[in-house]
Amino acid sequence: MAEGAPRPLGLLAELTYRCGLHCPYCSNPLSLDAYAEELTATQWCAVLDQARALGVLQTHLSGGEPLLRRDLPHLVAHAHRLGLYVNLISAGQTLSPRRAGELAAAGLDHVQLSFQDAHPGGADLIAGRPAHRRKLEAAAAVKQAGLALTVNVVLHRANIDHIDALIALAERVGADRLELANTQYYGWALQNRAALLPTRAQLTAAERAVRAARCRTGSRLDIVYVVADYFEDLPKPCMHGWGSRQLTVAPNGDVLPCPAAGRIPGLGVMNIRQADLASIWYDSPAFTRFRGTDWMREPCRSCPRRELDHGGCRCQAFELTGDPAATDPVCRLSPHRPLVDRIVAEAETTGAAGRPVPVVPRAPGGRRPK
Ligand code: SF4
Ligand code: FES
Repeated sequence: MAEGAPRPLGLLAELTYRCGLHCPYCSNPLSLDAYAEELTATQWCAVLDQARALGVLQTHLSGGEPLLRRDLPHLVAHAHRLGLYVNLISAGQTLSPRRAGELAAAGLDHVQLSFQDAHPGGADLIAGRPAHRRKLEAAAAVKQAGLALTVNVVLHRANIDHIDALIALAERVGADRLELANTQYYGWALQNRAALLPTRAQLTAAERAVRAARCRTGSRLDIVYVVADYFEDLPKPCMHGWGSRQLTVAPNGDVLPCPAAGRIPGLGVMNIRQADLASIWYDSPAFTRFRGTDWMREPCRSCPRRELDHGGCRCQAFELTGDPAATDPVCRLSPHRPLVDRIVAEAETTGAAGRPVPVVPRAPGGRRPK
């Protein structure tokens, strides 16, 4: 076992990549061929057992749309029996009062429900089908079941001007927490980046609206704002460091340091069908490759921030430069920063001119477990 390696805190269990919506910012992989054969309920229960034994305290049941797994209450009950804090991340299309009650009785602690926009017209356009009304019903069902509720909205050029209306929506549905998260560019979002990136003026106005709303709502509503990192000059501390606090299990059982890491070639990703979670976490090439700071090159190697931001995001470094060991190009010290500046400048031109850029909607994909 790797000396001094930390124990993980959270497990992101991506139960399925199947989903009825078509959001152009989805971070799921573009091709789902490798993920079609989903783990069975028995295999997921074994993953949860091993995660708990490894020290995991929270599990996030995600997707795709985890409600499409009929065995979801069984998995929630199993996680709850293990003493895990159980969070469901859902688009809420089939979250009826009966299902919400069933999940609450099984031990679910919290629901993170996504909304695409504040008003049905724009929201349904982004979702690629009528979805907004059902989300409102799902929020009511969550509250009725006595569960804690976070409303999550991915922000981009088409909805970032609606911050006040999004906050009003979160208040109306009785959310405990509102997460306004600027799009992170992986998967479909990377594909659609030119259409999704906001302008700097939009971001400034959004940040001002969030500050004002926080003063008004106080402790009634916790508003979390995730910055648009292309517009920052220092990178995000992605995953709090590679192989440090979180692990992801994909629908096919691949065990990943983060949800986007499957894109990095030659990473040595192992599958839960091949080995147990502890040996994958501590010893597999995928987890050890970028753990700690030994892998870093300059400018990160000698930078005083290296323990704070861990050199930024490995997946972003790979997507933008082709080299996952490069300094995240968002960093002002990265030799690749001009790449990000160019992308932002292009978006500024199209966004400020109001020129629409066509988007590629996310494909549904995935196959049920046998
Ligand atoms: Fe972070 Fe590396 Fe930039 Fe320093 S050089 S701020 S460690 S990304
Ligand atoms: Fe993979 Fe940041 S998304 S390390």
